[in-house]
Amino acid sequence: MTTSAPETVLVTGGAGYIGSHTAIALINAGHNVVVIDNYVNSKPDALDVVQELTGTDIVVIEGDVRDRALVEKVIVEHGVTAVIHMAALKAVGESVEMPLEYYGNNLESAISVLDAMKAANCWKFVFSSSATVYGDPESNPIPETASIGATNPYGMTKEMIEVIIRDVAASDDRWKITSLRYFNPVGAHESGQVAEAPVGRPNNLMPMVMEVATGKREKVMVFGDDYPTVDGTGVRDYIHVMDLVEGHVAALEHMSDQDGYEVFNLGQGRGASVLELIAGVEKATGLTIPYEVAGRRAGDIAECVADPTRANEVLGWQTTRSIDQACVDSWNSQAH
Ligand code: NAD
Ligand code: UFG
Repeated sequence: MTTSAPETVLVTGGAGYIGSHTAIALINAGHNVVVIDNYVNSKPDALDVVQELTGTDIVVIEGDVRDRALVEKVIVEHGVTAVIHMAALKAVGESVEMPLEYYGNNLESAISVLDAMKAANCWKFVFSSSATVYGDPESNPIPETASIGATNPYGMTKEMIEVIIRDVAASDDRWKITSLRYFNPVGAHESGQVAEAPVGRPNNLMPMVMEVATGKREKVMVFGDDYPTVDGTGVRDYIHVMDLVEGHVAALEHMSDQDGYEVFNLGQGRGASVLELIAGVEKATGLTIPYEVAGRRAGDIAECVADPTRANEVLGWQTTRSIDQACVDSWNSQAH
């Protein structure tokens, strides 16, 4: 249970992968959850299992958060005291092909939600940002003070929204705004009942490895083995999704001591290569995961690892789950 007063938290995009896990963490900490989602990348029944697991009702509203009047009405009617804004389009490659859809959806959603909050006198805002804002970092691990420079339209939407929320926080001292820069979320709730279920072909490594493990695909294409890394494949900071979502609860509860705008990295502070992640899934499943080395994927970088010291010290938050555990939990969440 929470040690701070219970909040009623609107999770925009709450039917998605991270949102559905966030709902569990918020409820476990004693908070109430309201969700708005338009199901552009999720299913209407995504939160049924969360309600069953927690034995708690979640108010779930189908709608688009670009509808400012709807968001304001939901905040007022349900007594929302804080918003975790996750609703966004998130596929990097698609954002290069459809920049207007990405800038339109992601920027308009953020502005609409902030505007509705202001009108409804609700001032706590947590934003789902991304390590993608660091672009190709000068060095690893990356502190929050590193230079910013996203390299694709999706990443630019996160960078631009960070600028907007910083300015909004500075405009009125009632705002408490936090940007959480996620590294690479993997895994699932330990029940195995809440799955990452992307619509269409997975872009990310773990869902792709899971599709190979479950026999939906023949092999994993490994994008490049000539990077200056431990085994030549790309290195990322994979973080168990339950650790990640607990970081949101910590950020929310820290807001009682917060003035203005804060930024935190949410990562483990340790990297794993593509081949190490595949080996982790082999260990978790007892299967052999076939893979083939292909060329580098356009826009990819060699290495991206968080320095999570600031979140550890200021939020009192630590990761507690290993990548091996994330592989087991991802596997258990698949129908197999
Ligand atoms: P997801 O696609 O599973 O969830 C996003 C949800 O937002 C979906 O359910 C989608 O239907 C909804 N949505 C999108 N636009 C909407 C709109 N206009 N109105 C209402 N609902 C809308 O993605 P996720 O992995 O859960 O990511 C959640 C957030 O975290 C996103 O903002 C994403 O950019 C960010 N993020 C994700 C990762 C990652 O690797 N998964 C990494 C860094 C940051
Ligand atoms: N990879 C493969 N084969 C695949 C998929 C990925 O080899 O089929 C490799 C990539 O080349 C990279 C690593 O696996 O080296 C991780 O790739 P992901 O696509 O899973 O993740 P990224 O680090 O490229 O990007 C993800 C999200 C972004 C987010 C970023 C930082 O897709 O939205 O993490 O949080 F911004």
